Amino acid sequence: MPRAIISPSVLASDFGQLTAECKRMIKGGAEWLHMDVMDGHFVPNITMGAPILTCVKKGIPDIFMDCHMMVAQPEKWVDDIAAAGGALYCFHLEATSDPLALINSIHAKGMKAGVAISPDTPSTAILDDVGKAADMLLVMTVYPGRGGQKFLERCVPKVAELRARFPDKDIEVDGGVGPKTIGVCADAGSNVIVAGTAIFGAENPEDVITTLKDAVNTAQARIANKQ
Ligand code: DX5
Ligand code: ZN
Repeated sequence: MPRAIISPSVLASDFGQLTAECKRMIKGGAEWLHMDVMDGHFVPNITMGAPILTCVKKGIPDIFMDCHMMVAQPEKWVDDIAAAGGALYCFHLEATSDPLALINSIHAKGMKAGVAISPDTPSTAILDDVGKAADMLLVMTVYPGRGGQKFLERCVPKVAELRARFPDKDIEVDGGVGPKTIGVCADAGSNVIVAGTAIFGAENPEDVITTLKDAVNTAQARIANKQ
């Protein structure tokens, strides 16, 4: 199974100090930063776009920006996010009619491609060829649109279903994930963990990052022992 990666969601950070907040997370053990891009169409809120990501990349040239594109026309932003230094472009399956073509265009720009599904989208909507072409699959455990929502445990079986079909892919969970909810996600086979409130709201974010990473590693060891 792919290794544990913690991706703090900057949605819960102080946006006025975004670069410093990202640096603080990297110092605390985060390998990726989860950048929530919202356009006011796919979801009601608006957060940030390529110009802001460009500034963060300038301040932290080796940052891995895991861009969660909660946008209505994901095809439209591939070039801009690539130019801004995005490392991974994760679009919503619900927002496109041609996910394979989109994955190809993301790869052509040198980024990894992710496919996200909202709580009401079944994991089987990610067809085998799409899942194989993608680098990462994102199972939302809240409705996309804002941070600090309650974890929806009913989404977790989708992680297990995807892990069974795609043993080598990164599988990310996002929404309401923290020390209390990581167990079920890790047991189901998720290895990329997004957490906003749980990390940024903590007194010691590095402790939470370590706890989440340890939980994934422990679950992976347990799963490997059973096999
Ligand atoms: C929700 C976003 C999440 C959000 C997670 O639309 O995609 O990344 O920031 O925040 P928490 O961890 O607070 O639920
Ligand atoms: Zn997100």
